[in-house]
Amino acid sequence: MRIYLAPMEGVVDHHLRKIYADIGGIDLCVTEFIRVTHTRLPEKMFRRYCPEMSDPLPIPVRVQLLGSDPEMLAINAYAAARYGAPGIDLNFGCPAKTVNKNRGGACLLNEPELLFEIARQVRQAVPNSIPVTAKIRLGYESRTRYVENALALAEGGIAELVVHGRSKTDGYRPPAYWNCIGEIRERLAIPVIANGEIWTVDDYRRCREESGCDHVMLGRGLLSCPDLALAIRADQAGEAYQPMTWPHIAELLLKFQRETTDSYPLQFCGNRLKQWLMYLQRQYPQAHTLFETIKKSRDPHIIESAVRDARDLACAA
Ligand SMILES: Cc1cc2nc3c(=O)[nH]c(=O)nc-3n(C[C@H](O)[C@H](O)[C@H](O)COP(=O)(O)O)c2cc1C
Repeated sequence: MRIYLAPMEGVVDHHLRKIYADIGGIDLCVTEFIRVTHTRLPEKMFRRYCPEMSDPLPIPVRVQLLGSDPEMLAINAYAAARYGAPGIDLNFGCPAKTVNKNRGGACLLNEPELLFEIARQVRQAVPNSIPVTAKIRLGYESRTRYVENALALAEGGIAELVVHGRSKTDGYRPPAYWNCIGEIRERLAIPVIANGEIWTVDDYRRCREESGCDHVMLGRGLLSCPDLALAIRADQAGEAYQPMTWPHIAELLLKFQRETTDSYPLQFCGNRLKQWLMYLQRQYPQAHTLFETIKKSRDPHIIESAVRDARDLACAA
């Protein structure tokens, strides 16, 4: 069984990947998507999205590329591999309007021939030792052609496929159609990783049953419950599990806020922390209180001191 941390643009950067790698239970991460258009991207861009290329975590971090031009994707995938990416992931799931309008992400799910060509050219450009993988949804307007798309990518040479069990039109609305992921798994010889709507250990069990996939990618579920992967593993091993406590999480929030403040322009201060808190509220009521306290602030001192207070209060309790 493998468990991956899902790429989540605007939240999961290298600071959060390090925090999650330290918590444990996950086998692999993927960067936020890097948009490829008509240029060869500068080295510093790859290093900004994936500092782990020079300062690796104990688990691999694949570099995710998003675009529609097979040749430019291949050129940039080759560059990423040369800078030290341990894997290249191709994004065919992004639902964002601006991305789709520019022929990227999920809209390519209407063009299986193009998916094949992108996979083929990227595979050819990257050394054999570096896996090329892809992440898809079940379709663009509707849940159709997903087996065709998956087969096209596999034929193009990808090593693994992550399937988010919804169409672009489904957005993030439950349910995720794990049974459709199962249809893909039955037709592919490469590993298929199920993704979508796994929030609890029970969800993992049901997803596994419906999709037949042992391997999963967890997104918002891991944000709301940072030790979900550990809980799933304990359950699979038949062991008891003690969930992470709020004081531990509050400490991690403080660390994350300090690190992100130093890494991004001030006008974005607190954005990533707030996103994480939004999901943590599902599991931890204290996260809701903290979110409400800082939601309108962009001031690094105010935000940090609110998080510090929350941490101190949690530790004193
Ligand atoms: C805020 C946010 C940002 C995301 N960014 C990316 C991204 O950069 N690349 C990608 O392939 N998927 C991205 N996704 C999709 C997730 O990786 C995942 O497929 C989706 O959230 C479903 O899984 P979940 O139900 O476990 O969250 C994003 C999702 C969210 C909520």
